[in-house]
Amino acid sequence: MSKPIILTGDRPTGKLHIGHYVGSLRNRVLLQNEGKHDMFIFIADQQALTDNAKNPEKVRQSVGEVALDYLAAGLDPEQVTLFIQSQIPELAELTMYYMNLVSLARLERNPTVKTEIAQKGFGESIPAGFLVYPISQAADITAFKANFVPVGNDQKPMIEQTREIVRSFNHTYQADVLVEPEGIFPENEAAGRLPGLDGNAKMSKSLGNGIYLADDFDTVQKKVMSMYTDPDHIRVEDPGKIEGNMVFHYLDVFGREEDQATIAEMKEHYQRGGLGDVKTKRYLLDVLDRELSPIRERRLELAKDMGEVYNMLAKGSEKARTVVAKTLDEVKDAMGINYFK
Ligand code: TRP
Repeated sequence: MSKPIILTGDRPTGKLHIGHYVGSLRNRVLLQNEGKHDMFIFIADQQALTDNAKNPEKVRQSVGEVALDYLAAGLDPEQVTLFIQSQIPELAELTMYYMNLVSLARLERNPTVKTEIAQKGFGESIPAGFLVYPISQAADITAFKANFVPVGNDQKPMIEQTREIVRSFNHTYQADVLVEPEGIFPENEAAGRLPGLDGNAKMSKSLGNGIYLADDFDTVQKKVMSMYTDPDHIRVEDPGKIEGNMVFHYLDVFGREEDQATIAEMKEHYQRGGLGDVKTKRYLLDVLDRELSPIRERRLELAKDMGEVYNMLAKGSEKARTVVAKTLDEVKDAMGINYFK
């Protein structure tokens, strides 16, 4: 029996931050180490280009950064296939066929795409490639016959659209070629979307409110010391609030089993008054650094030989390509367009 297949990926638009880490990377490493799935993890550079066409250099740089983040966080190319989307032209070919199964109106209804269009301020000039990226994402997923796709909640519409394409394809061509994937969504709301250091609901590069896996200790320290806490907690002896206090929010996300008693006690003390922000921040810094320092050290080591990192990606891409080519062949068989066979 072959193992169930997991596929997921990230857009390379910058380095990965600790929100990515707790929201998905950490879980991918756990899944990898369980060894119960065939895993494909990829860098979605073509998708990143759909709204960065004029800035390919940013995407190119970020491919290397994301690959370093993957490896440093513990993804092991011996156990999972790591690849780059654009190096598999068959994915674009699949996209071409799927486009005919999806209406323009359906694309325009995708709530995540709608939000992004509003945020990105395209105005009247929405790139066609941007509007159709959910179809290309369906190609990514179905090309590997993925059973499970671990992603953030914002990706629910993409999974739904993929399932529709699968049903439409199999029905239209009377074939049993494509597999309907299931999304795996973060169960833990706190980790599902880690807020920024400033309390903003989203940690993002453009808001400048994130901690990156690549940040050195001094940078992390500076960032932790600047975190948003309780603005009314002015003197140490004042009672403080823990709701909306990012230090306690992060402790809930990063604290391990053995930290729980200390965290509970600190929360109690803080609310009663007498516990200063600097102390809570120092403790958080310890907790964070315990998790981040091994990742940071591995990342520094790996970054010394980018040639090796790209070799690994090339090997993964080659392996992934054989899988995709097989699915594409089945797709063309089902459509009856393998003329020379
Ligand atoms: N849309 C995803 C994101 O923004 C990236 C992605 C592209 C993806 N193709 C995928 C995720 C296929 C899972 C499966 O992060």
